[in-house]
This record gives sequence, C-alpha cells and structure tokens, in this order.
Amino acid sequence: MAIPLSGTPVILDIGSAYTKIGFAGEPGPRFIFPTITGTEKYKAVMVDVSARNIYVGNDAAKMRGVLKIKRPIERGAIMDWNDFYEILNYCFYSLLRIPDVSQYPVLYTEPPFLQKETKEYVARVLFETHRVKSLIMVPTPILSMFSVGLTSGLIIESGDGITWICPIINGQIVDQSVQKLTLGGTDVNQYLKNLLMREGIHIESSAVDEIIKDMKEKNCYFVLDPKNPPKKDERFSIAMPDGSTISIPHYIFHEAPEVLFQPNLVGYPISNVPQAIITSLQGIDKYYWSELLSHVVISGGNLSYSGFEERLRIELKKLLPQLGKIPKPKRQSPKTKEKAKLKSIEGSKKKQDNCPHCGVLLDLSDEKELCPNCGGRIVLPELSININTSSKKAPVIDGKLLCPHCGKEITDIDSLFCPYCGKNVESPDLEEISKKVIDEPPPAKEFAGFYESSEEILKFFVPDNLQYAIFSGATILGTLPSFQRLFITHEQFLSNSDLLYKDISEIF
Ligand SMILES: Nc1ncnc2c1ncn2[C@@H]1O[C@H](COP(=O)(O)OP(=O)(O)OP(=O)(O)O)[C@@H](O)[C@H]1O
Ligand SMILES: [Mg+2]
Repeated sequence: MAIPLSGTPVILDIGSAYTKIGFAGEPGPRFIFPTITGTEKYKAVMVDVSARNIYVGNDAAKMRGVLKIKRPIERGAIMDWNDFYEILNYCFYSLLRIPDVSQYPVLYTEPPFLQKETKEYVARVLFETHRVKSLIMVPTPILSMFSVGLTSGLIIESGDGITWICPIINGQIVDQSVQKLTLGGTDVNQYLKNLLMREGIHIESSAVDEIIKDMKEKNCYFVLDPKNPPKKDERFSIAMPDGSTISIPHYIFHEAPEVLFQPNLVGYPISNVPQAIITSLQGIDKYYWSELLSHVVISGGNLSYSGFEERLRIELKKLLPQLGKIPKPKRQSPKTKEKAKLKSIEGSKKKQDNCPHCGVLLDLSDEKELCPNCGGRIVLPELSININTSSKKAPVIDGKLLCPHCGKEITDIDSLFCPYCGKNVESPDLEEISKKVIDEPPPAKEFAGFYESSEEILKFFVPDNLQYAIFSGATILGTLPSFQRLFITHEQFLSNSDLLYKDISEIF
C-alpha cells in the first residue's frame, strides 16, 4: 500500500493486548498485531549468543513455541521500555515502512492521566529516536467520543486491561469524576480459564492463552438476566490447533464476561461497570446528567460481546434511582447553539503558531498573512470556515439526518462533520428536522422539570467496530486542519514540555 503524502499524521494506538496503527484519513488501521515480544528460550543453540533476537507482534505469535513471550504493556502501563522501543521500530520500519519519518506528524493515543514522566519520555523517544516531524498525545476517551461524532458524552471504554468511565463535556474530560476500573479483557480470559478448569477441561498447548482469548472473542456473549439464562443444554465442540476437539458446556460462554457486572467473580472488591457510571455521575453537577446519559458511548474491544448494550441498559435502569430525580434541561434552539459554537471557535484563535511551511514560531496578533521568514501563506483554515463553505447540506429522510457524502445516519445534529467519512456536513434548516431529531437535549443550563423515567434519557452510541473506535476517532480528528495545528515540534517540546498538555477542546 502506498505511503500517504508527507504531513499526513501517523496514528499509533499501542494497547495492552493489540496495537493498531495506520494513517489519518484512512478508514481503519493498516496493521493490527498483538502487543507482544518474544526472545529465544534456548540461548545455547544460538550461533551468536550475545545477539538479542527479538520478535514482535505476529512474528512472535507465529514462533511462540520456541520463544519466551512478554507483554510489555500491562493494563495500559509500559512495563518494559526496551520492548516498547522494539514495538515502535516494528511499527515504523517493518510495517508502515515510512521512508522518512521526519516528514510525518504522529498522533499517539494515551490512557487518561498518563504520568507526566511517562508522557514526556514517550515524546522524547518519538522525537529523538524516530525524529518524527511533530506530535500530539490524545487521551483515548476523547477519540472514542470522536469516533461517533460527538463532543460531549459519557464514555465507557474497556480494552484488555482497564475500563474507563469518562464523562466529557464540550471536548473536556471532567477529571474529578473519571472512574478507572482495573478490569478488562484479560480478566474475562482468566475467568474463562477458571471456568474451563472447574469443568475439568485442560488445554495442553504453549498457546493456551491465545486459544482461550480466541475462544472468548468468537463465542462469549451477555444474557439479559444471568439468574435466568436461556436454557441451552447442548455442549459446544471447539477445534484445537492440534486437530483434537474439546466439548464445552454452553453456560460458560455467557458466564465468563459476567466479570464486568460482577468483578467479585475474579476476586476484585471493586465497583462493577454500571455502579461506576453512577459514581461518576454523582461527581458531576446534575445539570449535565441528562446530556451525558443521552450520549453514552461504548468503545474498546472488551465490550464487543453481543448483548452488552442491552444488558448495560437494564443494569443502569436499576441503579439510576440512586441519582434521584434527573433534571430536564431547558432546550435552546439549535441555531443558538451553532452561534455559540462558532463564537467559541473564534474566541479561541491563537496568538502564536508555527508556520506550516518552514516551522518558525510566528506572532499572529497582527493577523499577518505571509510568513516573514519564508514568505509562505500562513492563514490556516479555521474549523468555523468549513461549516458554511465546502460542506453540503445534510438531507433528512424519515426523520433521520443522513450524511450527504456517504449516506450514513448522523445522530448528533450539531456535528460539523460525518463521524463515518469525516467530510463536512451542513445542518439542515430547523423546519426540515423532524421532532425526533430536534428532541436531542442540548447542554443543560436551566431546568424544565424532571424526567419521569430513564427510558426517556438513556441513549447509546456504538461505533461500527468497538476495537477500532479509538483509532477511528484518531483518523477523523487527524485530518482536521484545526487539529493538525495543535501538533508540537521537537523544538517546541524542548522549549516547553507543558505544550504536550494542549487542550484540544478549543477546536470543538
Ligand atoms: N469480538 C470480541 N469479543 C470479545 N472480546 C473481544 C473481541 N474482540 C476483542 N476482544 C477483547 O478486547 C480486548 C482488546 O481490546 P482493545 O484492542 O480495545 O484493547 P487494548 O487497546 O489492547 O488494551 P488497553 O486499551 O486496555 O490497553 C482483548 O481482551 C480482546 O480479547
Ligand atoms: Mg486500547
């Protein structure tokens, strides 16, 4: 596959279980591989015993029988920096094969609250070892939210190691009410393994963990009521890599993922996912509750099980009374909202920026149009310009707002672009929008009574592919010129490492 033009952001989403990498503007990751490394078990048989032969990703997975396999990232934390370097090398030079990395900005996805030292160290490695052109590090929940075209929402994100409950309002994470659960796909794997052992099923293979993970991904699902699961007596026959088959009782497949709703099954004295959502909301002003509950975003590979959304809805409805009455916000007209959005974009115009041609830091306060250093044009496109110029009006069919470019349904009527194809979209006139569409609640400011039932409020946003949702958010965001202006260069990083903490909400 051809390498995109220089300047196209490279996306690195290095997760505890899987690494997803590619380029902004592309529909999905170019490569996805297990985040593992392998070194030879038997050094004595090697010709050069001092050489450290290290295999990464699928190369390591294929040879796992003769390798000592390591997982350098555990529950989102980098545990082995040498292996992390190897993974980056593998991404840039073996897979993406970018001839000159210094021509490419990098969008690196990071877990929320990444330690300052770790964050700056990752930046140093990317700048100093790989000499990337520029860099931005974005917390994954922001990207999950962006993958469904929202700028506010309650993000439920669960990967292999951690589950995050992360409220975001106008592009900003509400730090004090983020909930972090040490619970992820790896715990489901462990519980599935325990259940199999309880049934006397032992899988004899060096790839036992892979076999269990694969079994989980293909077969596990949620039942609506775990106390009364649908009766399925039959056993399930699963083929093993050595050609044998094992027979597994059916209940195991809906019992294993129950750890998300009952973490005590794996011995963790922590909240389950719906309880953590309630705790998160309790830490936020109630004015925002309905806005958040009507934009619940589900993301991360570990929530891909069929039935998760329905089950979460049921469990949440049971717990919502803990919040008391949920206030109904007073509705503003979408027109007023659009004005407010435009104003905030104008208000956030930068006073300084780098020349897009030569990179020199410029003083923009006098609104100059040409770079005094290289003479290049420096008026960079603003997001607000796109709203009314190059965008097409979104048609409304059967009360649904459709993207004029790709035809998919756009659920957020305030969205300035399509969450699926990323192209600009102009909102239709107010009268064109059916009641159903304009009933979307705006950000709460004043009360207009209370909701009678949770049915009225709860609304879920589920990306097409949960495991790639973070990547999809990055690929859309990475193509926006207003976002690209937020990347920082090595020089900027050296002069002020705090620039890594840029508030990206200014572009929303
Ligand atoms: N179809 C599926 N059904 C159930 N689980 C799945 C499915 N696909 C992937 N998973 C699980 O999701 C987890 C990986 O998800 P994801 O790629 O989002 O996590 P990660 O980025 O590697 O980890 P983290 O973000 O926690 O560091 C693994 O535990 C994997 O087994
Ligand atoms: Mg992840």
